Amino acid sequence: MKKGNSRIIFPLDVSSAAEAEELVRLLDGRVGMFKIGLELFIDQGPSIVRRVRELSSAGIFLDLKLHDISATVKKAMESAARTGADLVTVHTSSSRKMLEMAVAGGKGQTRVLGVTLLTDNDASVVRGCGFKEEYVADTEGLVLKRAALAHDSGCSGVVCSGLEASAIKKRFGKEFLAVTPGIRPAWGSVANDDQQRITTPGMAVQQGADLIVVGRPIRTAADPAAAADRIAREVEQALDV
Ligand code: C5P
Repeated sequence: MKKGNSRIIFPLDVSSAAEAEELVRLLDGRVGMFKIGLELFIDQGPSIVRRVRELSSAGIFLDLKLHDISATVKKAMESAARTGADLVTVHTSSSRKMLEMAVAGGKGQTRVLGVTLLTDNDASVVRGCGFKEEYVADTEGLVLKRAALAHDSGCSGVVCSGLEASAIKKRFGKEFLAVTPGIRPAWGSVANDDQQRITTPGMAVQQGADLIVVGRPIRTAADPAAAADRIAREVEQALDV
């Protein structure tokens, strides 16, 4: 697979196995990972992970955003690891112990990515949750604090916006993954778009994003496979590879 394509994570944001399988067949070989989120996982259960594995050699990113007591998260991670998922998300808004137990539950096969601050959580939400004014005024400071917790607990990286990726890479080094959603190519438009803090594929990787999550710009394109390839070329040009 070309370098640019391997940087793309495509979210299977559908609720039926048939729709997911159609997308996997269409994009196999054109994206590095398929992301299975709560909508599809709750509807289909762990069998959908195995099904995607059968259809494609791409990696599997299980976006479960776990958050519970440490022992429960460890058990949930052990179950997630049994599906063969490569990456699973866990919220970083709880204890270091919870994150360490998540990493232990992955048994070195399924890696943990920390969710720092959801992109629909703005400063007013941070204030409403009772955080100090210093974090209301500087939400990136909160993202970095949570990223440090993820890093020190043995997580493999974090989910962050393209605008935060450079600060994350600078502070935690190149091995610590920055996975970036909210990607919008300059040449495409998404109807009724809800993403706010967006970056183009090129900007995101220039800022240090290792992997970019690109959903609707591919899924709603007239030719999704061609859109994935165009995004991959843009990534390669930005990285000069
Ligand atoms: O490219 P598009 O906006 O369609 O991508 C949406 C996907 O990105 C969804 O699967 C969503 O869960 C994911 N995502 C996000 N913002 C985050 C984390 C993940 O939009 N902060």
